[in-house]
Amino acid sequence: MDKSEAQSRIQKLRELIADYRYHYHVLDESTMSEAAADSLKHELSQLEEKYPEFVTSDSPTQRVAGEPLPEFQSVDHSSRMLSLNDVFNEDEIRSWEARVHKLAAVQELEYFVDVKMDGFACSLWYEDGKLVRALTRGDGLVGEDITQNIRTLDSIPLTLRSSKGYEHFLSGRTEIRGEVLMYKDDFDALNKKREEAGEPLFKNPRNTAAGTMRQLDAKLVAERPMYFHGYDLIRDDASDVPSYSDAYETMRALGVRSNEMAQKVSSIDDVVAYADEWQDKRLELPYGTDGLVIKVNDRDIYAKLGIVGKAPRGAAALKYPAEEATTKIKDIIISIGRTGAATPVAVMEPVDVAGSTVQHASLHNQDEIERLDVRIGDTVIIHKAGDIIPKVLRVLTELRTGKEKQYDMVAELNEMDIEFEQPKGEVIWRAVSGNNPTIIKRSIQHYASKQALDIDGLGEKNVDLLVDEGLISDFADLYSITKDQLESLERFAEVSSENLVAALAEKKNPPLARFLNGLGIRHVGVQTSIDIANTYGTLEALQKVATEQPEELYEIDGIGEVVARSIVEWFSNESNLELLEKFKAADVWPAEAEQSSGPLVGKTFAITGTLESMGRELAAEKIRELGGTFQSSVGKGTDYLVHGAKLGDGKRAKAEKFGTELLDEEAFLNLIGA
Ligand code: IVH
Repeated sequence: MDKSEAQSRIQKLRELIADYRYHYHVLDESTMSEAAADSLKHELSQLEEKYPEFVTSDSPTQRVAGEPLPEFQSVDHSSRMLSLNDVFNEDEIRSWEARVHKLAAVQELEYFVDVKMDGFACSLWYEDGKLVRALTRGDGLVGEDITQNIRTLDSIPLTLRSSKGYEHFLSGRTEIRGEVLMYKDDFDALNKKREEAGEPLFKNPRNTAAGTMRQLDAKLVAERPMYFHGYDLIRDDASDVPSYSDAYETMRALGVRSNEMAQKVSSIDDVVAYADEWQDKRLELPYGTDGLVIKVNDRDIYAKLGIVGKAPRGAAALKYPAEEATTKIKDIIISIGRTGAATPVAVMEPVDVAGSTVQHASLHNQDEIERLDVRIGDTVIIHKAGDIIPKVLRVLTELRTGKEKQYDMVAELNEMDIEFEQPKGEVIWRAVSGNNPTIIKRSIQHYASKQALDIDGLGEKNVDLLVDEGLISDFADLYSITKDQLESLERFAEVSSENLVAALAEKKNPPLARFLNGLGIRHVGVQTSIDIANTYGTLEALQKVATEQPEELYEIDGIGEVVARSIVEWFSNESNLELLEKFKAADVWPAEAEQSSGPLVGKTFAITGTLESMGRELAAEKIRELGGTFQSSVGKGTDYLVHGAKLGDGKRAKAEKFGTELLDEEAFLNLIGA
């Protein structure tokens, strides 16, 4: 991007962000998720960092929040309501602490940690223990007086409680800052009522809380259940509250709710452990959270660390991985699967979403490209949750420059030296015959992949090379490659050639299930291959059934007509039979599988949440090894739901509905004998 392009991008980003902010802060509506907006802001601040000459005072990077509404009286805050700088991972927590430590120049620092509540910030002023004023955050310097509304909240004391040792807080000014929250259950109930009454539904608890607090009619506010949780307590004499742990204790003593799980910790390692612990646990809280707040506990040191921009140096917000981000489409390419299906794939500028870097997203087919109206050069919002595949949600057409290129998948397919057809009634385009180099390459790559034969050294580039050089044209050819042949190729040296030949020699009698999966029979993936292997034991037995009594195939759980037909077709295809002969001649044949053995035969499992002892993939593999079936989610016929430390109510209800037994990690480990 050159300078003038950067300038125009900056301008467009600002307009889009300003538009988002107006809707969000003034109208309590949202035009995109907060995560997507954050992502745009991040890009803007990076561009401004690179081109500081384009920074202006009205840039969204230079202020805290929206304008006060005209209907409420504007009041100056006693001290600025600041925001927090974000950190996104353990490394960033540690570098924040390193900076703090250096600046504070003390040996030991304690920290105070709390969840970051997703509510509506508010400041409560008490004079001699009486609530006299409540202000919204506004722009941080000036807030709106919402005292009438705040008085309707039962969780806010109109008079501070008198409590032994804390009497002095009832004289003079005590200011309490915190969040007004609508709990998730109350929000759901409210929306249910609205639905029944035919009223438009609210978007989320935070917007609803914010919108409600800005209602001019306090009666309406009183009808909606909301809570206040404090996070700060300010006195004119700072020595009244020497630390944040004191502030939290004092709030509780005075009758103001503050989070019970907030705590003082004595090292940054403990902060990291707390962050790990609350990443999942926070989802069980009655209100929404979007991270953690970490502060230097000693308020004297905290104050001395000072403020940079609009945020205190002594605090940071740890944001848990956002599930949405924005990025740019660099290109759209066509990926050909091992069955010849052509899928358009967006190639994007790498971006971090939900804890991993994403740069590809399937666009599925031409219909989807048209539905999204996605063009090369577009900025898009992508979504990814946990281990779910990334998805392009929508295009930010507002950021178009006019240089974006439309993509015509059919024209692209015509350009390729493969013939494609679109079977009647399908949206997918497929290569006409399996006999073209791209499909051969991808199917060989699949044969060698981790889930199939698991042969190291046969990634995409090497397979392409071996096929292009004419060394192989099917799976069986792999086993006749020699070390000398490999060494003559550009990508292979002596050691790598030796390793590949050895790896292939080692896998001449693979487990039947892996071999079946490797063959790439349509609709026969990992689980079906395992089920077939467990049922028939040998490839010969399967072939016999497929050619002589195909109806028997249906007896395997999970095999329906489509799968059965595909297996029968595969074994009736002449070139596949030749392939099998070729394997035999090369002394390659799958080992006999133990039929239906293992303690978990006939049992179906699903997993939810995080297991401490092993990852999901490994757990699934163990289940399969022992004869069980692994499903990606609970459904009819799931025998067991293995769950991590936390089990959401939704999952529990689903398990109950299907009569699925719950297994915690310990019970699961016992069952698999680990
Ligand atoms: S401490 C300098 N603690 O997050 C402000 N803030 O992005 C320090 N928030 O304005 C505030 N939960 O509205 C603090 N446990 C918590 C919080 C919290 C939510 C909000 C608060 C603040 C904003 C900063």
